[in-house]
Amino acid sequence: MDSPTPPPPSDPFAAMDPEMAAHPQPLFKMLRESMPVIPVDTGGVALTRRVDVEEVFRHPEIFSSNADAVDLQNIRPLIPLQIDPPEHKKYRKLLDPIFAPREVAKLEEWLTESVNELIDHFVDQGEVDFSAEFSTLFPTRVFLGLLGLPVDELPHFLALKDGIIRPQVAVGSTYGSPESLAHQKQTAEAIYAYFDKVLDQREIERQDDLLSRFLDASVDDQELTREDILDICFLFLIAGLDTVTASLDCMFAYLAEHPDQRRLLVDDPALVPAAIEELLRWETPVMGVVRVAVQDTEIAGCPIHEGDMVMVMLSSVNTDEADLPDAEVVRFDRESNRHLAFGGGVHRCLGSHLARLELRVAMREWHRRIPEYAVAEGHTLAYTSGIRSIDHFPMTFPTS
Ligand code: HEM
Repeated sequence: MDSPTPPPPSDPFAAMDPEMAAHPQPLFKMLRESMPVIPVDTGGVALTRRVDVEEVFRHPEIFSSNADAVDLQNIRPLIPLQIDPPEHKKYRKLLDPIFAPREVAKLEEWLTESVNELIDHFVDQGEVDFSAEFSTLFPTRVFLGLLGLPVDELPHFLALKDGIIRPQVAVGSTYGSPESLAHQKQTAEAIYAYFDKVLDQREIERQDDLLSRFLDASVDDQELTREDILDICFLFLIAGLDTVTASLDCMFAYLAEHPDQRRLLVDDPALVPAAIEELLRWETPVMGVVRVAVQDTEIAGCPIHEGDMVMVMLSSVNTDEADLPDAEVVRFDRESNRHLAFGGGVHRCLGSHLARLELRVAMREWHRRIPEYAVAEGHTLAYTSGIRSIDHFPMTFPTS
C-alpha cells in the first residue's frame, strides 16, 4: 500500500473511508481469507498475508524500493529508502550508529522536558486538541532539535512536510491531481533550498547537531556529498514526523476508548514498553509500504510482471492469525511481539529506536499527569488512510 509517505494515486486503499481507516482489522481479515493477493487495476498486487510479505522483504533484488515505487516529486532518490542493495548498505552503515539504542537513550531527559512543556500548556484546562497541541508538535520539536533548528521554524517545517505528504489539502484537490502534483513539486524544491541554506551555515560554523555530523561523516573513506545530505534530510522530514504523530494519535485514541487497558498502564507504568509494541502491532499506524518488481516473477502462484507495484499491507500482516493465533486480542503481556509496524528486510525503519523512545516518554509522562481522559463527547474521530493520523482529536480530562 504505502510507505511512511502517502499512497500513490493507484492505491486501492487510498480512498478507504474514515470509518474503515478507524478500524481496518476486519477488512484485512476478510481479505486474507478470501483474496490474499489482490490485483490492482493499474498493474500489480496488494499482499495481505505474512508469508507472502516476508518473501518480498527477503528479495530486494526482485522487489525494489527504488524511486519508481513512490514518486514524491523528489529530483533524486531519497536516501536510504529509494536506494537498493548493495549501495543501500553503505548509507545504513553510516546512519545506523547515529540512531542506535545507546545514542538515542541519551535524549531521554530532553524528550521528557519537551513532553512536559507541551502538557504544561493545557493540563489545567481540562480539554485539548490532542492532535494540534500534542501529537503533531512533539515529534516536530524533536526533529528541529536534532537538526539544530530553532523552535520558531516549526510552522514552516510542518508546511514543508505537509506539502509533500498531503499536498491535496493545501490546494483543496485530490492526491495526484495536477494542482496537487504542482504543489508537491514546488514544496520539494523548497525543501532542497531550505536544507541547502542551513548546510551553508553549518559549513561556516559547525554545531552539535545531525547536519554538522553529516558534513563530517564519511562512508568507506568517502565523504557524503551535499546532494547525499540533502536526500537524507528530505527523507527524514517525511519519515520521522508524521509516523510518530500517527502512532501517538492511534495509541491515545485506543486508550481513550479502552479505559480498562489504560488503567493497567496508569497503575503499572512498567507495562508501557510492551503496550507500545502491542499498539504498534494492532493499530499499525503506517498501514503499508510499496515495492516495484524489477523482473518478471510470481507470488503465491500469481504472476508479477516487471514494473508492477507490490503493495505490502503491514496492517494485515500484523493481525495475521496464521502467524499469531490470538492476533485479534490486544494484550499488554505478550512475551514477544514480531510485528512489522516498522517494516521489514533491508529497509526496516532506521528511526525505530528513536520512535520507541519518543512514544515511551510521551506515554509515561502523559499518564503520570493526565491518567483519565476521553474523546470529547459527541465527537467521532476521523482517521486518514495510508498513514493513520487523526487531524482533529478533541479530548477531555478532569483537572485537579
Ligand atoms: C512510530 C514511528 C515510525 C513508524 C511506524 C515508522 C515506520 C517505517 C516503515 C514501515 C518503514 C519501511 C519503509 C519501506 O520499507 O518502504 C520505515 C523506514 C524508515 N524510517 Fe521509519 N517509522 C517511524 C519513525 C521514524 C523516525 C522517527 C525516523 C527518523 C529517523 C524514521 C526514519 C526512517 C527511515 C530513514 C527509513 C528508511 C530506511 C531504509 O530505507 O533503510 N522513521 N519507517
